[in-house]
Amino acid sequence: MIATASARSSGAVRHHGADEIIDYTSELVASAIEPVDVLIHLVGTPPPWTPPVRRGGTIISAAAPVPAPPGVTSTHVVVRYDAAQLTELVRLVDMGEVTVDIAETHTVNGRADVHRRSEAGDVRGKVVIQPR
Ligand SMILES: NC(=O)c1ccc[n+]([C@@H]2O[C@H](COP(=O)([O-])OP(=O)(O)OC[C@H]3O[C@@H](n4cnc5c(N)ncnc54)[C@H](OP(=O)(O)O)[C@@H]3O)[C@@H](O)[C@H]2O)c1
Repeated sequence: MIATASARSSGAVRHHGADEIIDYTSELVASAIEPVDVLIHLVGTPPPWTPPVRRGGTIISAAAPVPAPPGVTSTHVVVRYDAAQLTELVRLVDMGEVTVDIAETHTVNGRADVHRRSEAGDVRGKVVIQPR
């Protein structure tokens, strides 16, 4: 599995199973790898390059739809707030089968500061806001 990450996240990404890491801040992803079977795109804007996917391959995007090159299928998935699926996700987290990269935990009073730092790119991972 090949993943993209900047230096601050390379350890976490490798821990989660990446065999190879491309630092997207210094390398152009499309020219750093051979075409792959499946490309998962989780960044807010479509890639500024032609996705390096083999003919017959698949692109799955969660943030912005990605135009598919000829012979490639591109699917854009959007979260649905389904109680049964959320319950199953909680079960998987409780069992340790799904892990969430929690960077910080705050009370509601700290949320404005966290939003500001997050917008500035200063928060890595997920933030938990405790209701009380
Ligand atoms: N479709 C849906 O239902 C749905 C649901 C939730 C979120 N989203 C969208 O999904 C996107 C990701 O959300 P998220 O919560 O996962 O955000 P996130 O945790 O903040 O992920 C963004 C991080 O991805 C890393 N990254 C890895 N490769 C990158 C690359 N090639 N270019 C830029 N950044 C790269 C960067 O971290 P490092 O610099 O530390 O490497 C960046 O800070 C957002 O645009 C969000 O709006 C969609």
